[in-house]
Amino acid sequence: MGDLFLGELFLDKPAATPDEVGRALDFCAEQVMRSLPRFAGRCQNHSSVNNFYPACDNVQWTCGFWPGEIWLAYERTGNNAFREAGLALVDSFLSRIEDKIEVDHHDMGFLYSPSCVSAWKLTGSEKARRAALLAADQLMRRFQPIGGFFQAWGQLGAPDNYRYIIDCLLNLPLLFWAANETGEPGEGRYRARAREHIATCLAHSFRADGSTFHTVFMDSQTGGMLRGATCQGYRDDSAWARGQAWAICGAAFLFRHTRDPALVAAFENALAFYLSRLPEDLTPYWDMIFTSGTEEPRDSSSAAITACGLLEMARFAATPEASVSYARLASCMVKSLIDRYAVRDPAVSDGLLLHGTYSKKSPYNTCTPEGVDECTSWGDYFYMEALTRLSADWDSYW
Ligand code: GLY
Repeated sequence: MGDLFLGELFLDKPAATPDEVGRALDFCAEQVMRSLPRFAGRCQNHSSVNNFYPACDNVQWTCGFWPGEIWLAYERTGNNAFREAGLALVDSFLSRIEDKIEVDHHDMGFLYSPSCVSAWKLTGSEKARRAALLAADQLMRRFQPIGGFFQAWGQLGAPDNYRYIIDCLLNLPLLFWAANETGEPGEGRYRARAREHIATCLAHSFRADGSTFHTVFMDSQTGGMLRGATCQGYRDDSAWARGQAWAICGAAFLFRHTRDPALVAAFENALAFYLSRLPEDLTPYWDMIFTSGTEEPRDSSSAAITACGLLEMARFAATPEASVSYARLASCMVKSLIDRYAVRDPAVSDGLLLHGTYSKKSPYNTCTPEGVDECTSWGDYFYMEALTRLSADWDSYW
């Protein structure tokens, strides 16, 4: 994608100023502080109900995002109350992986990168390191050599669940972290498996126009692709807005670990498609089949995730012009989130980012409807991560 394309599309959009970013991030830290007593030792539900989060036990795939927010707030403020709350949750995450509570799925990176890799990096907690390494090993158990991918859900090897999903790109950084942490030499097993999954995903999940399939079913006998499908998108052949964001962000995060040029191409193609489907305010509807003029709900989390991917790729772009373009675009997207989607009043919500969509039922998809036009725990987390990336030279948890 030429830099001209980005420049032409977004020159008229305002970017967030350092002051706006700083104020927004301070408000996030204050919101997290206000919520600490209510969620003590527990997690926020995957999504809010009428913009307030129920508390939940540490059993959902999304439970890593709340401690991730706590660690980002700790980094912003240095306040020990955040450190203590984050470390209390490390205990919970260590028990969860040791006792194998709701970990028979691939979401180990979503769970353990923001909750425990963060804690290890920021405090040197050995419990956090141990928990994250156990989680990496748990993910490794889901690798399917026939087809070369990490099976997302369900009983391992079951033909009707022999599939991976685009979201898994965000689980793989945990394996590269584990490889570095254990001193695994060369292309040892964590890195080799992660690279195999990336190659499979690049081969099958990305369509010619840069859009992506949410889920790809594989043949358990031959390892070939059977079909692309969706669970949470509108239709099998549409582009679920969050899946597209996982693709963009995952490609960027994994490029940092691999320097694989194929990931840059995937990032650029997925981003070009994404930009071509964005409405005026740069925040997509929940599926990119919908564009300006629809009454369908947005998914603000998709914009926050994409902004983080842009800011990551800005650090590694081949040219200074591309780097400036990615960073500016991210800043424009974040400005829109600050101005139109961010919570401003604690009486309205205990979350950070309004108007996310977890799973919306369509006539064609298979999901359970929940969290429509609500705050989402990952939307809040990635919004805060994007603000952090814009305000400091940040050492990623991913
Ligand atoms: N990873 C599941 C989702 O994005 O809803």
